[in-house]
Amino acid sequence: MPRLVIEGTQWGDEGKGKITDFLAQTADVVVRFQGGNNAGHTINFNHEKYALKLVPSGIFNPRIKNVIANGVVVNPKALIEELEGLESRGITEYQLFISNRAQILMPYHIDLDAANEAVLGKSNIGTTKKGIGPCYMDKASRNGLRMGDLLNLDYLKERLETVLPIKNLELKSYGLKEYSFDELFELLISWKNKLEKHIIDTSILINEEIEKDKKILFEGAQGVMLCVEHGTYPYVTSSSPLACSVPLNTGIAPKYIDNVLGITKAYTTRVGEGPFATEINDDIASYIREKGHEYGTVTKRPRRIGWLDLVVLNHAKRTSGITSISLMLLDVLGGLNKIKICTKYQLNGKEIDYIPSNLLDYQNCIPVYEEFDGWKEDITSCKTFDELPINCQKYLNRIMEVTRLPISIISVGPDREQTIVMKDVWKND
Ligand code: IMP
Repeated sequence: MPRLVIEGTQWGDEGKGKITDFLAQTADVVVRFQGGNNAGHTINFNHEKYALKLVPSGIFNPRIKNVIANGVVVNPKALIEELEGLESRGITEYQLFISNRAQILMPYHIDLDAANEAVLGKSNIGTTKKGIGPCYMDKASRNGLRMGDLLNLDYLKERLETVLPIKNLELKSYGLKEYSFDELFELLISWKNKLEKHIIDTSILINEEIEKDKKILFEGAQGVMLCVEHGTYPYVTSSSPLACSVPLNTGIAPKYIDNVLGITKAYTTRVGEGPFATEINDDIASYIREKGHEYGTVTKRPRRIGWLDLVVLNHAKRTSGITSISLMLLDVLGGLNKIKICTKYQLNGKEIDYIPSNLLDYQNCIPVYEEFDGWKEDITSCKTFDELPINCQKYLNRIMEVTRLPISIISVGPDREQTIVMKDVWKND
């Protein structure tokens, strides 16, 4: 029963790209199930770097079926640019399927994202300004257009005629430029011409692959703490990257999810605003930022840095059923004298081991740390757990002890070969 979900357990940017790419080599189908081109991960393939945003990670292998499922918001312009970029670098033979139920991210969503952020002023979310929130809002308010609409021009026309007056009213209320029907319809037709061959009912495709017992990798974007349900609301994205959202966002039954791999950085980072209990702003933070290249793939913003927070990891485990951990960027911590792990918080004089839903409470949480001696050895060519320095092993063992989760993969460098596999993540225990 080889179906595996890859999920970020922190605030995104945990290194999902590397592991998805690593596991995609053995998958038959790779499915993106939420988010849009707010996500971005870098994949090193054939000694070249590729920044993928909407395109699933199996795109480099012509054998793999890549699916953009119904839970994704698709900016067709961004997708076409991404595909053209890949094609210009010789990636021309690929299998890509886009759900006819995926929402279309329109130019006005991008305008409205920026306008909302401006109105929020100091309280802004720090979005990627890619229009993600407004597009999901239109989905929920039933004013969205869907990729399948492109396949029937009469229906597309009817839908655009229905929703555009509403969107223009909204744009007007912000003092923004309104759109004419003709300019948007023309744009939609140009997108249809480029993408229609990829648009199908992907729920049918995925279920057929399940019937054939194929290996399916569900690739989440962002991380649990950015989940609209279980994250640090309102400083979250507008979708849910949790494994439990996979069935809804792809059109499969919940019983088909076998394993959930929680991708966890050996420390924590966050971009955008919002509370971050273990954040540090000292020389160690700069050391980690530079060594770990902690700058946003999409926005290039420097990421905020903090120690590993096991309260967060346990929250991710509880809300989404993580079955094992892939620990990323462990090499970045090398060279530090002391390393800390947060195991609990103190709130109003009491110890707690959960994330308060109220952000004022969360802001007041003081991390309770355990301190470990660091290691000076270079671990980037270690091939097994036993080859890792003893202090490094102690750090890993403590993570497993507190979370009661096995570490199945350890990443000690950016390349595929710099990956210690402790357990086959496709297999159930
Ligand atoms: P949005 O998804 O653009 O609406 O942004 C909402 C929040 O999620 C902001 O704090 C973003 O910085 C954050 N965010 C969105 N996508 C990513 C990602 O791929 N990695 C890390 N943070 C993200």
